[in-house]
Amino acid sequence: MNNAFPYPTLSAQEAVAMIHDGNTVSFSGFTPAGSAKAVPFALAEHAEHRHAQGHPFQIRVLTGASSGFSIDERLARAEAISWRAPYQSGKTLRRQINNQQVEYVDMHLSHVPQTVAFGFFKTIDLAVVEATEITADGRVYLTTSIGASPTYLRHARKVIIEINRNQSPRLREMADILIPPTPPHRSPLNIFDPLTRIGVPYAVVDPKKVIGIVENNEPDDVASFTASDGVGHDIARHVTRFLAAEMHAGRIPAGFLPLQAGVGNVANAVMAALGDCPDIPPFAMYTEVFQDALVDLMIRGKLTGASATALNITTGCLAQILDQFDFFSQRIVLRPQEISNHPGVIRRLGVIAMNTAIEADIYGNVNSSHLFGMDIMNGIGGSGEFTRNSYLSIFMTPSVAKGGLISAIVPMCPHIDNNEHSVQVLVTEQGLADLRGLGPMQRATRIIDRCAHPAYRDYLQGYLQTARSGHIRHDLSRCFELHRNLLETGSMLPDLFTPPAETVQPASPS
Ligand code: COA
Repeated sequence: MNNAFPYPTLSAQEAVAMIHDGNTVSFSGFTPAGSAKAVPFALAEHAEHRHAQGHPFQIRVLTGASSGFSIDERLARAEAISWRAPYQSGKTLRRQINNQQVEYVDMHLSHVPQTVAFGFFKTIDLAVVEATEITADGRVYLTTSIGASPTYLRHARKVIIEINRNQSPRLREMADILIPPTPPHRSPLNIFDPLTRIGVPYAVVDPKKVIGIVENNEPDDVASFTASDGVGHDIARHVTRFLAAEMHAGRIPAGFLPLQAGVGNVANAVMAALGDCPDIPPFAMYTEVFQDALVDLMIRGKLTGASATALNITTGCLAQILDQFDFFSQRIVLRPQEISNHPGVIRRLGVIAMNTAIEADIYGNVNSSHLFGMDIMNGIGGSGEFTRNSYLSIFMTPSVAKGGLISAIVPMCPHIDNNEHSVQVLVTEQGLADLRGLGPMQRATRIIDRCAHPAYRDYLQGYLQTARSGHIRHDLSRCFELHRNLLETGSMLPDLFTPPAETVQPASPS
């Protein structure tokens, strides 16, 4: 490997000296996988130092999706972020966004490269991209994620490469990189199977833009999932039975269809249950993120292949992959996020999409991103492009949160990111509502009967009966009554569930 020539090696502090207040900086990383590490850490320290001296210092931050501790959490704690896109999941940053200290653009992840290319994020002053190698002619071999890095390398005015000695150079064998041209010059992406390759194993940068190389030696800081509880198992059981029945009914072919699974513990529980179910044949995935649960499924031959944009896996699981790299590199393809989440490919392959909701309304509109319609949780992420374009779109959620104080089934969602036209199946631990072919009243009855927690069913049925008649029945004076109750008393149904005094929410959610 010839990393050093012709690029100067910089310390993280020297690199940070080239970043100025107000700059737009794009970092590699899709989840903590492949995130830049050394420069954002040094940048946070630099920001704290500047603030202590009474100087303003904040930057606009882009990544592929969430980024883990090294970027979002560390920079947010240093109050170094003024603007953020396209997704985040950090506690401190979430609070700053909801306090309106940070402007946040919550968007479909496959739209990011095009949004960059057409300048809607303004000029990107600097891209900081983790790699295992950069060649003299500008080929950049990325690490555990592809995300939007190829686009950031192309469009940023200047580039710093973080060479991570901790990551295996063999990761490039999984990479398949192509940046589609701009409209109207886009031809179909010839992906006819999750493992089809259409690109090259490296991203490209103009060597003249590379101002230096920073060394980092850190593993990805991926948190392990907590073991699924009874609710997660019940949801997984409903989904598994449903998919097996769909296959036996001939609506899913005997060879099955590629799966997409969203983030979180419920998704992990569902994948594990599908792996254990003898009625589900070996399957492939066309998904966004490759997670821990999939390693074991692949070794067992249940998961035959996976397309993703990131290996969001813990150190132990990554070691397992590296130990048997010849096996895994034949079965995993990592793509740019505009291709891993590409609507046309998702539709062509007939993906079965499984994502998690915060809440759903009685008609099947889903909110995955905003509490009370106001406070961001994480963002829409890739759920929209998979849900809208899949063959079968499933949303899962526990029927209640906070010990029953909150119902996940409500008359109307105060924020909707995946709507009733795209959501086909809703699942809670109570049961599964197949909404295909149903009109609004039928959908409402089925969702209340099958998915709502028994403690909320009477309320929801009462709402439906007294609501104003129309194609969709609603009572605009009461449709957010549960949410108003929650904000005012800490419980959606105060007569049934009295919250402990310390959990009562203030009238203002932030
Ligand atoms: N109202 C208020 N709070 C609620 C709530 C509701 N209706 N439902 C859940 N909560 C609270 C939970 O109690 C929990 O609070 P805590 O952090 O204080 O414990 C918190 O919200 C998170 O709930 P949880 O059930 O643990 O969420 P999760 O980890 O399963 O994640 C989403 C669920 C929806 C937040 C997550 O999947 C997400 O961000 N999705 C959007 C992006 C996406 O789908 N990406 C994948 C696409 S490829």
